[in-house]
Amino acid sequence: ARANIGVVGLAVMGSNLARNLASRAGNTVAVYNRSPEKTRTLVADHPEAGFIASESVEDFVDSLSKPRTAIIMVQAGAGTDAVIDQLSDLFEEGDIIVDGGNANFHDTIRREGAAKKRGLNFVGAGISGGEEGALKGPSIMPGGSAEAYATLGPILASIAAVAEGEPCVTHVGTDGAGHFVKMIHNGIEYADMQLIAESYDLLRRVAGHDPEAIADVFAQWNEGDLESYLIEITAEVLRQKDAETEKPLVDVILDQAGSKGTGVWTVQNALGLGVPVGGIAEAVFARSVSAKPGQRAAVRGAITWRPDIQKPSSSFEDDVRAALYASKVVAYAQGFDAIIAGAQEYGWDINKGDIAKIWRGGCIIRAQFLNRIVEAYDANPDIATLLEDPYFARAVTDGEDAWRRIVATAALSGIPIPGFASALSYYDALASERLPAALVQAQRDFFGAHTYRRTDKKGVFHTLWSGDRSEVQISAE
Ligand code: 6PG
Repeated sequence: ARANIGVVGLAVMGSNLARNLASRAGNTVAVYNRSPEKTRTLVADHPEAGFIASESVEDFVDSLSKPRTAIIMVQAGAGTDAVIDQLSDLFEEGDIIVDGGNANFHDTIRREGAAKKRGLNFVGAGISGGEEGALKGPSIMPGGSAEAYATLGPILASIAAVAEGEPCVTHVGTDGAGHFVKMIHNGIEYADMQLIAESYDLLRRVAGHDPEAIADVFAQWNEGDLESYLIEITAEVLRQKDAETEKPLVDVILDQAGSKGTGVWTVQNALGLGVPVGGIAEAVFARSVSAKPGQRAAVRGAITWRPDIQKPSSSFEDDVRAALYASKVVAYAQGFDAIIAGAQEYGWDINKGDIAKIWRGGCIIRAQFLNRIVEAYDANPDIATLLEDPYFARAVTDGEDAWRRIVATAALSGIPIPGFASALSYYDALASERLPAALVQAQRDFFGAHTYRRTDKKGVFHTLWSGDRSEVQISAE
């Protein structure tokens, strides 16, 4: 046994992670793939890595020193279960199986429970940063037991991205906590991308800028509060020309966005947990709407009129920037609310500040902005919402006028801005003295005797709507 860590599954993410591991001092990396050609290619292409390659699971397991630690990098789902079964049969007490894929955290909880029964450690680890991140330093969100993390933590720290001198990895919590937090990361990623896309659409259609000019605007925004990987790559995407037509590439890409599921999971779970994540949900729905060409064509065929595009105000670009920033604050506040609710529901001790820290580097949503969240939770880990933190409260109120102008301009121009609009409505709901929920509650009481509470005294009440309409008290508390 010569390797301290193994990787199973050598597609791009697995190969890159294996190469990253091998390039760090102290790691000797065992590799295995179901079809041996991939293993042979990787080993031949990267002799410098000193991989210990195996063509059978048995040899792979034999090549690992104890406690054996293997990271599975295969397609999430049935493939993962098959590899876990193979390893579980050969691994011994205390050995560690790590799933580095985008697994559903419910599966991770189940798999961890089954492994524990056999005396094995199972760690579901979210890994963000795409192919390049896997190779050069991802952000890593491991769950599982503290015992497993004692062995695994230093190995993961050796390959993670570094932000402000700290490796972007932390023990998120037990069993499925890591994959849960990775799921929320992806939900926030969806919202971030949607808000950037809405900004682009407004700059294009209202301000009349071409993609090249919008790239310049984004590049400039990337120097300020909005500095982030997603803003940076957006500028690059917008500068890209199609070789064949010489048009901006963005103009020849079909306007239908796909998805692999993590955004949908975020919303499904948030619904179950009762957490309003409208910004994330609207981002998921916006992709669904885009991918319905039949309905889009039907509506375009049925209508004869579209509103004129409003004239941009002199501060239009800056207004869009402010609307983007305020909406982004809301999306992150909602994402962290979902983390808090998940931690409570599943009994995870998740440090919110640490999550913001490990998202500062390596992952898709990496940004300077995460430092503000770290500071907010440092100052008060128990704030009711990020929007309560003085920095964020000011950021939102400072941009508020601009945000409202942008939502109004878009609505009057017929430009869809589900992200901006839902974020603003969410903010206004939290900020309103009274909500029309009182009326909804009265309606519920009318047709279903669902009762209500009063603003002026304790107790539960019901109005005899189909009787004499007097009020009865149902209970004292
Ligand atoms: C990451 C990405 C990664 C992947 C997503 C994209 O953190 O590195 O989120 O996990 O790119 O699967 O999700 P969709 O395919 O659903 O857009």
